Amino acid sequence: MGNEALGQIRTRLQMVIPHPRYEHSRRVEEESRRLASRFGADLEVCATAGLLHDCARDLSLDQLIALWHRLGPDRRGPDPVMFNSALLHGPVGALVAREEYGVRDPRVLNAISRHRVGAVDMTLEDKVVCLADYIEPGRRFPGVDAIRGLAQHDLDAALIYALGATIKHLVDSAALIDADVVVIRNALLRESTKMPKAGDTSAS
Ligand SMILES: [Fe+2]
Ligand SMILES: [Fe+2]
Repeated sequence: MGNEALGQIRTRLQMVIPHPRYEHSRRVEEESRRLASRFGADLEVCATAGLLHDCARDLSLDQLIALWHRLGPDRRGPDPVMFNSALLHGPVGALVAREEYGVRDPRVLNAISRHRVGAVDMTLEDKVVCLADYIEPGRRFPGVDAIRGLAQHDLDAALIYALGATIKHLVDSAALIDADVVVIRNALLRESTKMPKAGDTSAS
């Protein structure tokens, strides 16, 4: 997807989503570019997914649930008890990006789908967009500067810290926690520290 296509997406997005969301999306696009060049991810994939990552964020919960059911039998996403806009807009955003913005590249669609919660088998591009959403310059929350510091040199460490901050925040707010967030953080932690995987007896 070249500059012209990205420009067309920006024009359409600006008409469809609220202005503050559009500004956030542009900052995530730019942060995704910075992280992609720092860590060797595909620039175009990361920029496109960063720009479109919240294209479904302002749909109503009813709209999100209806679209989520259209994702088909291989849909991934939250357990139905966890249905809420924050968790559904990632997977549904991938559908909207394909149908409304003409995105066909599965790497872009996956990064959009996984930007909120992540996945156990995240690609470099998935990680870049997920982290860019946490640390774009408009973000202010406890711990964000620590995540930005880690993101200067260690993508996985920054993501592990970010997911930990999310879990802490949810615990402090007495909110439901999507079990996937814990599973994904564990997978990243094992991968980055070379901990043995569950069932792996080779290190015993
Ligand atoms: Fe989002
Ligand atoms: Fe976002």
